[in-house]
Amino acid sequence: MDKKKNLIVFGTRPEAIKMAPLVNQFLADERFETKVCVTGQHREMLDQVLTFFNIIPDFDLSLMKPNQNLYHLTGEVISGLKPILESFQPDYVYVHGDTTTTMAASIAGFYAGAKVCHVEAGLRTNNMLSPFPEEMNRQVAGRVATYHFAPTLKSQENLLKENISKDHILVTGNTVIDALLESANRVEGLENEDVVELSSKIDFEKRIILVTGHRRENHGQGFVNICAALKEIAVQNPDVEIVYPVHLNPNVLKPVNELLGSISNIHLIKPLSYPSFVWLMNHSYLIITDSGGVQEEAPSLGKPVLVMRDTTERPEAVEAGTVILVGTNTNKIIKETQELLDNSNKYNSMSSLHNPYGDGKACQKIIEFISNL
Ligand code: UD1
Ligand code: UDP
Repeated sequence: MDKKKNLIVFGTRPEAIKMAPLVNQFLADERFETKVCVTGQHREMLDQVLTFFNIIPDFDLSLMKPNQNLYHLTGEVISGLKPILESFQPDYVYVHGDTTTTMAASIAGFYAGAKVCHVEAGLRTNNMLSPFPEEMNRQVAGRVATYHFAPTLKSQENLLKENISKDHILVTGNTVIDALLESANRVEGLENEDVVELSSKIDFEKRIILVTGHRRENHGQGFVNICAALKEIAVQNPDVEIVYPVHLNPNVLKPVNELLGSISNIHLIKPLSYPSFVWLMNHSYLIITDSGGVQEEAPSLGKPVLVMRDTTERPEAVEAGTVILVGTNTNKIIKETQELLDNSNKYNSMSSLHNPYGDGKACQKIIEFISNL
Protein backbone atom coordinates (compact mmCIF):
# COMPACT_ATOMS: atom_id res chain seq x y z
CA MET A 1 0.00 0.00 0.00
CA ASP A 2 1.20 3.52 -0.78
CA LYS A 3 2.33 5.53 2.19
CA LYS A 4 0.26 8.58 3.15
CA LYS A 5 2.21 11.72 2.32
CA ASN A 6 2.48 14.47 4.94
CA LEU A 7 3.87 17.98 4.56
CA ILE A 8 4.30 19.73 7.91
CA VAL A 9 4.70 23.51 7.59
CA PHE A 10 5.71 26.00 10.28
CA GLY A 11 7.78 29.15 10.60
CA THR A 12 7.94 30.74 14.04
CA ARG A 13 9.33 29.72 17.43
CA PRO A 14 6.05 28.67 19.06
CA GLU A 15 4.88 26.70 16.01
CA ALA A 16 8.22 24.90 15.93
CA ILE A 17 8.05 23.97 19.61
CA LYS A 18 4.49 22.71 19.26
CA MET A 19 5.05 20.87 15.95
CA ALA A 20 8.43 19.32 16.84
CA PRO A 21 7.03 16.28 18.69
CA LEU A 22 4.57 15.67 15.84
CA VAL A 23 7.36 15.87 13.25
CA ASN A 24 9.54 13.41 15.12
CA GLN A 25 6.72 10.94 15.77
CA PHE A 26 5.55 11.06 12.13
CA LEU A 27 9.13 10.61 10.88
CA ALA A 28 9.48 7.50 13.05
CA ASP A 29 6.26 5.99 11.68
CA GLU A 30 6.72 3.92 8.55
CA ARG A 31 3.10 4.18 7.52
CA PHE A 32 3.81 7.73 6.38
CA GLU A 33 6.18 9.64 4.15
CA THR A 34 6.68 12.91 6.01
CA LYS A 35 8.49 16.05 4.90
CA VAL A 36 9.03 19.30 6.77
CA CYS A 37 8.92 22.78 5.28
CA VAL A 38 9.90 25.77 7.37
CA THR A 39 8.96 29.17 6.03
CA GLY A 40 11.68 30.89 8.04
CA GLN A 41 9.19 33.54 9.22
CA HIS A 42 11.52 33.54 12.24
CA ARG A 43 15.23 32.74 11.90
CA GLU A 44 17.36 32.56 15.07
CA MET A 45 14.33 31.90 17.26
CA LEU A 46 13.22 29.07 14.94
CA ASP A 47 16.65 27.56 14.42
CA GLN A 48 17.30 27.05 18.15
CA VAL A 49 14.15 24.91 18.35
CA LEU A 50 15.11 22.86 15.28
CA THR A 51 18.51 22.21 16.84
CA PHE A 52 17.09 21.15 20.21
CA PHE A 53 14.61 18.72 18.63
CA ASN A 54 17.10 17.49 15.96
CA ILE A 55 14.88 18.48 13.05
CA ILE A 56 16.45 19.06 9.63
CA PRO A 57 13.83 20.62 7.35
CA ASP A 58 13.46 19.25 3.83
CA PHE A 59 12.57 22.73 2.59
CA ASP A 60 13.37 26.19 3.96
CA LEU A 61 11.76 29.26 2.38
CA SER A 62 14.08 31.56 4.43
CA LEU A 63 11.57 34.39 4.33
CA MET A 64 12.49 36.53 7.31
CA LYS A 65 13.34 40.15 6.65
CA PRO A 66 14.13 42.76 9.33
CA ASN A 67 10.91 44.37 10.59
CA GLN A 68 8.89 42.43 8.02
CA ASN A 69 5.28 43.20 7.18
CA LEU A 70 2.18 41.06 6.84
CA TYR A 71 1.73 41.67 3.09
CA HIS A 72 5.23 40.43 2.31
CA LEU A 73 4.94 37.41 4.57
CA THR A 74 1.54 36.27 3.34
CA GLY A 75 2.49 36.54 -0.33
CA GLU A 76 5.87 34.90 0.05
CA VAL A 77 4.56 31.93 2.04
CA ILE A 78 1.88 31.16 -0.54
CA SER A 79 4.10 31.52 -3.58
CA GLY A 80 7.09 29.87 -1.89
CA LEU A 81 5.04 26.77 -1.11
CA LYS A 82 3.71 26.36 -4.67
CA PRO A 83 6.65 24.45 -6.20
CA ILE A 84 7.04 22.30 -3.07
CA LEU A 85 3.38 21.32 -3.07
CA GLU A 86 3.46 20.66 -6.81
CA SER A 87 6.49 18.41 -6.68
CA PHE A 88 5.78 16.52 -3.42
CA GLN A 89 1.97 16.35 -3.83
CA PRO A 90 1.16 15.69 -0.17
CA ASP A 91 -2.13 14.09 0.87
CA TYR A 92 -2.09 16.12 4.08
CA VAL A 93 -0.67 19.56 4.89
CA TYR A 94 -0.31 20.27 8.61
CA VAL A 95 -0.38 23.82 9.92
CA HIS A 96 -0.32 25.01 13.50
CA GLY A 97 -2.15 27.70 15.44
CA ASP A 98 -2.50 31.28 14.26
CA THR A 99 0.53 32.89 12.67
CA THR A 100 0.82 34.34 9.17
CA THR A 101 2.68 31.17 8.18
CA THR A 102 -0.32 29.15 9.41
CA MET A 103 -2.92 31.13 7.52
CA ALA A 104 -0.96 31.40 4.27
CA ALA A 105 0.18 27.76 4.31
CA SER A 106 -3.38 26.58 4.88
CA ILE A 107 -4.48 28.52 1.78
CA ALA A 108 -1.56 27.11 -0.24
CA GLY A 109 -2.38 23.56 0.90
CA PHE A 110 -6.00 24.10 -0.09
CA TYR A 111 -4.99 25.39 -3.54
CA ALA A 112 -2.87 22.25 -4.00
CA GLY A 113 -5.86 20.01 -3.27
CA ALA A 114 -4.30 18.52 -0.11
CA LYS A 115 -6.35 17.96 3.01
CA VAL A 116 -5.34 20.70 5.44
CA CYS A 117 -4.96 19.54 9.05
CA HIS A 118 -5.10 22.32 11.63
CA VAL A 119 -3.24 21.58 14.85
CA GLU A 120 -4.29 23.72 17.84
CA ALA A 121 -7.63 24.38 16.15
CA GLY A 122 -10.67 26.17 17.54
CA LEU A 123 -9.10 28.80 19.81
CA ARG A 124 -11.23 31.93 19.60
CA THR A 125 -11.64 35.35 21.14
CA ASN A 126 -14.18 36.16 18.40
CA ASN A 127 -12.66 39.64 18.29
CA MET A 128 -10.88 39.99 14.95
CA LEU A 129 -8.66 42.76 16.33
CA SER A 130 -7.45 40.94 19.43
CA PRO A 131 -5.08 39.29 19.06
CA PHE A 132 -4.18 40.93 15.74
CA PRO A 133 -3.74 39.34 13.25
CA GLU A 134 -3.87 35.93 14.96
CA GLU A 135 -7.66 35.73 15.41
CA MET A 136 -8.11 36.20 11.66
CA ASN A 137 -5.29 33.76 10.91
CA ARG A 138 -6.82 30.93 12.91
CA GLN A 139 -10.33 31.59 11.65
CA VAL A 140 -9.10 31.42 8.04
CA ALA A 141 -7.15 28.22 8.76
CA GLY A 142 -10.28 26.84 10.41
CA ARG A 143 -12.35 27.56 7.27
CA VAL A 144 -9.82 26.02 4.95
CA ALA A 145 -8.92 22.95 7.01
CA THR A 146 -10.54 19.54 6.57
CA TYR A 147 -9.39 18.13 9.91
CA HIS A 148 -9.25 20.06 13.17
CA PHE A 149 -7.13 18.96 16.14
CA ALA A 150 -8.64 20.86 19.05
CA PRO A 151 -6.60 21.06 22.24
CA THR A 152 -9.58 21.22 24.62
CA LEU A 153 -13.33 20.61 24.77
CA LYS A 154 -13.84 24.38 24.70
CA SER A 155 -11.97 24.69 21.43
CA GLN A 156 -14.04 21.82 20.02
CA GLU A 157 -17.19 23.68 21.11
CA ASN A 158 -16.02 26.80 19.25
CA LEU A 159 -15.61 24.76 16.07
CA LEU A 160 -19.00 23.08 16.42
CA LYS A 161 -20.58 26.54 16.71
CA GLU A 162 -19.01 27.31 13.32
CA ASN A 163 -20.79 24.25 11.85
CA ILE A 164 -17.69 22.14 11.47
CA SER A 165 -18.65 18.49 11.41
CA LYS A 166 -17.89 16.64 14.66
CA ASP A 167 -16.36 13.77 12.64
CA HIS A 168 -13.68 16.14 11.45
CA ILE A 169 -12.67 17.32 14.94
CA LEU A 170 -10.50 15.45 17.40
CA VAL A 171 -9.84 16.70 20.93
CA THR A 172 -6.19 15.91 21.54
CA GLY A 173 -4.77 18.16 24.25
CA ASN A 174 -2.15 20.69 23.22
CA THR A 175 1.08 19.43 21.66
CA VAL A 176 2.90 22.06 23.76
CA ILE A 177 2.54 19.63 26.66
CA ASP A 178 4.03 16.82 24.54
CA ALA A 179 7.01 19.13 23.94
CA LEU A 180 7.23 20.19 27.58
CA LEU A 181 7.18 16.63 28.94
CA GLU A 182 9.60 15.42 26.29
CA SER A 183 12.01 18.20 27.28
CA ALA A 184 11.53 17.89 31.03
CA ASN A 185 14.14 15.13 31.43
CA ARG A 186 16.63 16.97 29.30
CA VAL A 187 16.06 20.21 31.23
CA GLU A 188 16.56 18.73 34.70
CA GLY A 189 20.09 19.54 35.89
CA LEU A 190 20.72 21.51 32.72
CA GLU A 191 24.10 23.17 32.69
CA ASN A 192 24.28 24.63 29.24
CA GLU A 193 25.86 27.97 28.37
CA ASP A 194 22.65 29.94 28.95
CA VAL A 195 22.15 28.57 32.44
CA VAL A 196 25.78 29.16 33.43
CA GLU A 197 25.54 32.73 32.13
CA LEU A 198 22.19 33.38 33.84
CA SER A 199 23.51 32.08 37.13
CA SER A 200 26.55 34.37 36.88
CA LYS A 201 24.48 37.58 36.68
CA ILE A 202 21.20 36.79 38.42
CA ASP A 203 20.77 36.04 42.09
CA PHE A 204 18.61 32.91 42.11
CA GLU A 205 18.34 33.12 45.91
CA LYS A 206 15.96 36.02 45.25
CA ARG A 207 12.46 35.69 43.82
CA ILE A 208 12.53 35.78 40.03
CA ILE A 209 9.87 37.51 37.96
CA LEU A 210 10.10 36.24 34.38
CA VAL A 211 8.78 38.54 31.65
CA THR A 212 8.10 38.02 27.94
CA GLY A 213 6.11 40.11 25.47
CA HIS A 214 5.71 40.56 21.75
CA ARG A 215 2.04 40.99 20.67
CA ARG A 216 1.45 43.39 17.80
CA GLU A 217 -1.54 45.01 19.54
CA ASN A 218 0.80 45.92 22.44
CA HIS A 219 3.37 47.65 20.20
CA GLY A 220 3.65 51.38 20.91
CA GLN A 221 1.78 52.63 23.99
CA GLY A 222 1.22 49.08 25.31
CA PHE A 223 4.96 48.46 25.67
CA VAL A 224 5.49 51.93 27.17
CA ASN A 225 2.91 51.06 29.86
CA ILE A 226 4.40 47.61 30.44
CA CYS A 227 7.91 49.03 30.84
CA ALA A 228 6.65 51.71 33.26
CA ALA A 229 5.09 48.98 35.39
CA LEU A 230 8.22 46.80 35.36
CA LYS A 231 10.39 49.78 36.33
CA GLU A 232 8.14 50.61 39.29
CA ILE A 233 8.02 46.97 40.43
CA ALA A 234 11.82 46.74 40.25
CA VAL A 235 12.35 49.96 42.21
CA GLN A 236 9.79 49.09 44.90
CA ASN A 237 11.12 45.53 45.31
CA PRO A 238 14.94 45.50 45.35
CA ASP A 239 14.74 41.97 46.79
CA VAL A 240 13.30 40.70 43.48
CA GLU A 241 15.08 39.98 40.18
CA ILE A 242 13.20 40.69 36.94
CA VAL A 243 14.48 38.59 34.03
CA TYR A 244 13.27 39.53 30.58
CA PRO A 245 14.38 37.58 27.47
CA VAL A 246 13.49 40.22 24.90
CA HIS A 247 11.81 39.15 21.64
CA LEU A 248 13.88 40.08 18.56
CA ASN A 249 11.08 42.09 16.93
CA PRO A 250 12.51 45.66 16.63
CA ASN A 251 9.13 47.05 17.75
CA VAL A 252 9.81 45.31 21.06
CA LEU A 253 13.61 45.46 21.34
CA LYS A 254 13.85 49.22 20.89
CA PRO A 255 11.38 50.48 23.54
CA VAL A 256 12.32 47.80 26.05
CA ASN A 257 16.06 48.56 25.80
CA GLU A 258 15.47 52.30 25.89
CA LEU A 259 13.07 52.25 28.85
CA LEU A 260 14.50 49.45 31.00
CA GLY A 261 18.17 49.28 30.01
CA SER A 262 19.65 50.84 33.14
CA ILE A 263 17.86 49.29 36.13
CA SER A 264 20.07 47.07 38.26
CA ASN A 265 17.49 44.38 39.10
CA ILE A 266 16.03 44.19 35.59
CA HIS A 267 18.01 41.80 33.38
CA LEU A 268 17.31 42.21 29.67
CA ILE A 269 18.66 39.15 27.90
CA LYS A 270 18.49 37.55 24.44
CA PRO A 271 15.72 35.04 23.71
CA LEU A 272 16.65 31.79 25.39
CA SER A 273 16.79 28.39 23.79
CA TYR A 274 13.67 26.39 24.58
CA PRO A 275 15.25 24.12 27.25
CA SER A 276 16.87 27.11 28.97
CA PHE A 277 13.56 28.95 28.96
CA VAL A 278 11.79 25.94 30.50
CA TRP A 279 14.56 25.82 33.11
CA LEU A 280 14.03 29.52 33.84
CA MET A 281 10.24 29.12 34.10
CA ASN A 282 10.85 26.37 36.62
CA HIS A 283 13.11 28.67 38.67
CA SER A 284 10.72 31.62 38.57
CA TYR A 285 8.34 32.82 41.24
CA LEU A 286 5.93 34.53 38.87
CA ILE A 287 5.56 35.05 35.11
CA ILE A 288 4.32 38.23 33.41
CA THR A 289 3.69 37.71 29.70
CA ASP A 290 1.49 38.23 26.67
CA SER A 291 2.57 34.91 25.15
CA GLY A 292 0.07 32.22 24.19
CA GLY A 293 2.43 29.27 24.66
CA VAL A 294 3.66 30.42 28.06
CA GLN A 295 0.03 30.62 29.28
CA GLU A 296 -0.30 26.95 28.38
CA GLU A 297 2.98 25.78 29.87
CA ALA A 298 2.65 27.61 33.20
CA PRO A 299 -0.26 25.60 34.70
CA SER A 300 1.70 22.38 34.18
CA LEU A 301 4.65 23.95 36.01
CA GLY A 302 2.50 25.46 38.77
CA LYS A 303 3.61 29.03 38.03
CA PRO A 304 1.21 31.97 38.41
CA VAL A 305 0.90 34.10 35.29
CA LEU A 306 -0.22 37.68 34.79
CA VAL A 307 -1.26 38.00 31.16
CA MET A 308 -0.76 41.42 29.59
CA ARG A 309 -3.78 41.18 27.33
CA ASP A 310 -7.44 42.18 27.52
CA THR A 311 -8.74 38.98 25.93
CA THR A 312 -7.62 35.39 25.91
CA GLU A 313 -8.46 32.46 23.71
CA ARG A 314 -7.14 30.25 26.50
CA PRO A 315 -9.83 30.51 29.21
CA GLU A 316 -8.90 27.11 30.66
CA ALA A 317 -5.85 28.46 32.49
CA VAL A 318 -7.89 31.38 33.86
CA GLU A 319 -10.52 28.92 35.13
CA ALA A 320 -7.80 26.70 36.61
CA GLY A 321 -6.74 29.76 38.65
CA THR A 322 -3.20 30.00 37.25
CA VAL A 323 -3.75 33.00 34.99
CA ILE A 324 -5.06 36.53 35.62
CA LEU A 325 -5.61 38.96 32.73
CA VAL A 326 -4.08 42.34 33.55
CA GLY A 327 -4.03 44.02 30.13
CA THR A 328 -1.41 46.72 29.58
CA ASN A 329 -2.63 49.07 32.29
CA THR A 330 0.45 50.12 34.29
CA ASN A 331 -1.34 50.36 37.64
CA LYS A 332 -3.08 47.02 37.25
CA ILE A 333 0.18 45.22 36.40
CA ILE A 334 1.86 46.80 39.46
CA LYS A 335 -1.08 46.04 41.80
CA GLU A 336 -1.47 42.37 40.81
CA THR A 337 2.29 41.77 40.91
CA GLN A 338 2.65 43.37 44.33
CA GLU A 339 -0.21 41.28 45.65
CA LEU A 340 1.45 38.08 44.48
CA LEU A 341 4.72 39.20 46.08
CA ASP A 342 3.08 40.11 49.41
CA ASN A 343 0.11 37.80 49.82
CA SER A 344 1.25 34.22 50.26
CA ASN A 345 -2.32 32.85 50.39
CA LYS A 346 -3.11 34.29 47.00
CA TYR A 347 0.25 33.16 45.65
CA ASN A 348 -0.23 29.61 46.92
CA SER A 349 -3.72 29.34 45.49
CA MET A 350 -2.43 30.38 42.05
CA SER A 351 0.58 28.12 42.07
CA SER A 352 -0.97 24.69 42.38
CA LEU A 353 -0.38 22.31 39.47
CA HIS A 354 -3.03 21.92 36.77
CA ASN A 355 -3.03 20.26 33.38
CA PRO A 356 -5.89 21.81 31.44
CA TYR A 357 -3.94 21.47 28.19
CA GLY A 358 -3.43 17.76 28.08
CA ASP A 359 -1.38 14.77 29.08
CA GLY A 360 1.42 14.85 26.54
CA LYS A 361 -0.20 12.37 24.15
CA ALA A 362 -1.68 14.83 21.65
CA CYS A 363 0.65 13.83 18.79
CA GLN A 364 -0.08 10.13 19.26
CA LYS A 365 -3.81 10.88 18.98
CA ILE A 366 -3.33 12.94 15.82
CA ILE A 367 -1.26 10.21 14.15
CA GLU A 368 -3.77 7.47 14.97
CA PHE A 369 -6.61 9.62 13.64
CA ILE A 370 -4.82 10.19 10.31
CA SER A 371 -3.77 6.55 10.02
CA ASN A 372 -7.43 5.48 10.34
CA LEU A 373 -8.67 7.70 7.51
C1 UD1 B 1 5.12 36.17 15.13
C2 UD1 B 1 3.63 35.86 14.89
C3 UD1 B 1 2.87 35.77 16.19
C4 UD1 B 1 3.55 34.81 17.15
C5 UD1 B 1 5.00 35.26 17.34
C6 UD1 B 1 5.73 34.29 18.23
C7 UD1 B 1 2.51 36.74 12.89
C8 UD1 B 1 1.94 37.92 12.22
N1 UD1 B 1 3.05 36.95 14.10
O1 UD1 B 1 5.20 37.51 15.66
O2 UD1 B 1 1.56 35.31 15.93
O3 UD1 B 1 2.87 34.85 18.37
O4 UD1 B 1 5.65 35.27 16.05
O5 UD1 B 1 6.97 34.79 18.63
O6 UD1 B 1 2.52 35.64 12.35
N2 UD1 B 1 12.97 38.60 14.33
C9 UD1 B 1 14.31 38.30 14.27
N3 UD1 B 1 14.70 36.99 14.47
C10 UD1 B 1 13.81 35.99 14.73
C11 UD1 B 1 12.45 36.33 14.83
C12 UD1 B 1 12.04 37.64 14.61
O7 UD1 B 1 15.15 39.16 14.04
O8 UD1 B 1 14.22 34.83 14.90
C13 UD1 B 1 12.54 40.01 14.07
C14 UD1 B 1 12.65 40.38 12.58
O9 UD1 B 1 13.01 41.72 12.48
C15 UD1 B 1 11.21 40.19 12.09
C16 UD1 B 1 10.44 40.67 13.30
O10 UD1 B 1 11.16 40.16 14.43
O11 UD1 B 1 10.92 40.90 10.92
C17 UD1 B 1 8.99 40.28 13.36
O12 UD1 B 1 8.79 38.90 13.12
P1 UD1 B 1 7.26 38.41 12.78
O13 UD1 B 1 7.29 36.93 12.63
O14 UD1 B 1 6.73 39.18 11.65
O15 UD1 B 1 6.44 38.87 14.03
P2 UD1 B 1 6.50 38.41 15.53
O16 UD1 B 1 6.21 39.62 16.35
O17 UD1 B 1 7.72 37.64 15.75
N1 UDP C 1 10.27 30.55 24.64
C1 UDP C 1 11.61 30.22 24.38
N2 UDP C 1 12.57 31.16 24.66
C2 UDP C 1 12.28 32.39 25.15
C3 UDP C 1 10.92 32.72 25.38
C4 UDP C 1 9.94 31.78 25.10
O1 UDP C 1 11.91 29.11 23.92
O2 UDP C 1 13.20 33.19 25.39
C5 UDP C 1 9.22 29.55 24.32
C6 UDP C 1 8.18 29.29 25.39
O3 UDP C 1 8.56 28.21 26.23
C7 UDP C 1 6.93 28.97 24.58
C8 UDP C 1 7.12 29.71 23.28
O4 UDP C 1 8.50 30.08 23.23
O5 UDP C 1 6.84 27.58 24.28
C9 UDP C 1 6.24 30.93 23.22
O6 UDP C 1 6.60 31.70 22.11
P1 UDP C 1 6.09 33.19 21.91
O7 UDP C 1 5.76 33.80 23.21
O8 UDP C 1 7.11 33.87 21.06
O9 UDP C 1 4.81 33.02 21.00
P2 UDP C 1 3.26 32.74 21.30
O10 UDP C 1 3.15 31.49 22.10
O11 UDP C 1 2.71 33.95 21.99
O12 UDP C 1 2.67 32.61 19.93
